[in-house]
Amino acid sequence: MEINVSQGAIQEHDADTLIVNLFEGTAPGGATAAVDEALGREIGRLRELRDITGEFNSLLTLYPRDVIPATRVIVVGLGDSRKFTAVRAMEAMGTAVKAAERLGARRIATVAFGAGAGGLSASEAAEMTALGAKLALYRYDRFKTFGDLVDKKVNVENLTLVEFDSAKVATVQVGAEAGETIADSVSLARDLQNTPAGHLTPEILAEQASKMCAEAGVESRVLGPDEMAELKMGALLGVAKGSVEEPRLIVMDYVPKGESRGTLAVCGKGVTFDTGGISLKPGLNMGDMKFDMSGAAATVGILRAAARLKLPVRVVGIIPAVENMPDGRAMKPGDVLTAMNGKTIEVDNTDAEGRLVLADALCYAQQFEPDAIVDLATLTGAVIIALGHVATGMMGTDVDLKRRLRDSGDHTGERVWEMPLWDDYEEAIKGKTADINNTGGRPAGTINGGMFLKHFAGDVPWCHLDIAGTAWNVKEKSYISEGGTGVGVRLITRLLREWGNAPGSG
Ligand code: BES
Ligand code: MN
Ligand code: ZN
Repeated sequence: MEINVSQGAIQEHDADTLIVNLFEGTAPGGATAAVDEALGREIGRLRELRDITGEFNSLLTLYPRDVIPATRVIVVGLGDSRKFTAVRAMEAMGTAVKAAERLGARRIATVAFGAGAGGLSASEAAEMTALGAKLALYRYDRFKTFGDLVDKKVNVENLTLVEFDSAKVATVQVGAEAGETIADSVSLARDLQNTPAGHLTPEILAEQASKMCAEAGVESRVLGPDEMAELKMGALLGVAKGSVEEPRLIVMDYVPKGESRGTLAVCGKGVTFDTGGISLKPGLNMGDMKFDMSGAAATVGILRAAARLKLPVRVVGIIPAVENMPDGRAMKPGDVLTAMNGKTIEVDNTDAEGRLVLADALCYAQQFEPDAIVDLATLTGAVIIALGHVATGMMGTDVDLKRRLRDSGDHTGERVWEMPLWDDYEEAIKGKTADINNTGGRPAGTINGGMFLKHFAGDVPWCHLDIAGTAWNVKEKSYISEGGTGVGVRLITRLLREWGNAPGSG
């Protein structure tokens, strides 16, 4: 679907479908009022009948029969104006676009959601509208040769954001383009997540990441096992041993052309499939472990977004990519590995492999002297017990970084919730034969993961985001489809956009 912006009156636009919106309990305003007027106040009449209430995400379709060029008008509810947010604008737009798609719409005209009574700036409203529309139409159909996704596939060809005020058209254009860029970056992350492990080995993941980098103007390099051995990445290599697929360390470096406000390193867990290794997982839902590279997928998406939006922050993306398999050569419970920083790790459980591969990635990240490191990882099942599929678990060493991440989460809807990393938790991960144990028992399972990683973050302000609950299996929303969610891309892109601004100012 192509998105464009045009100046004019939406009711005169010759798209087949118009999408307008309505707040609950308020008379139509702006573009909705103009369409209402053109339809002989039909929307007003339906409001009196209470067929249209403006309730959040509610839908009603009108068929104007030649009074205006469009064949149908979809009115979507924005809900209570006091509860309105940028995320709600995105969600309502997504709901309406999905309805339009079901009805076979090909050319849609709409307005920037939330710019008027919603109080969003014209640019942010346009961004949320473009983002909601594109994310709602996302689907993963690479392997479908027949059935609904293929046979009945109707493609929405374009979405036009119509802006009446000619003074605002340029701003709407900028916002819509940003929304598209972010949506495409989230979709790339989702595609990588959804790809079956047999089609996304560490090597293929590295190729995909390099391809993105070449297209977006990001420097990249890929290290193999020999280079890892030279760097003494014993933890990453330990996990890799059990698979015939060679590991890769993917390094992506986006350097802004002009002003740079600093450097952020992003480390994404890239376990392309997690069987558990010798500590083999039970069979039930093991197929979900193709999503164990969701942190890596987000990292690729973040680098793409940063480069395409030309953000004024250097971003270094680091992905340790491996497959965790049981094999005659696999590491065994009780084995001791030595990470790049020299710390020794007792492998109590080969299924706690994410923290092992990230340990070396975090050590490696320090070479870039970043101002901060954020890691994204589907690290523990325990975070799902703690927070469900609603929020990402956040742990870290820097108050300001944590606050910025929380603000970004609240704003984008990719919410994070902090868990503590108090010294009291250190006891649980003490090693018997080595410095640290890679597990800490069932209590505080998510924190044990964070405490472990802390040993490898050095003195750099660092935050760990456990996305095991938010990367897939999330309750569907208009803009979140089944399968991978691309979580982290919107969150970190916003963090980068606000980088260097006073906290809470955005
Ligand atoms: N990739 C899993 C975490 C996971 C489990 C994500 C279920 C989503 C759903 C991770 O590698 C893992 O296996 N973690 C173990 C750690 C334990 C052995 C300390 C876990 O959570 O059980
Ligand atoms: Mn595991
Ligand atoms: Zn894992």
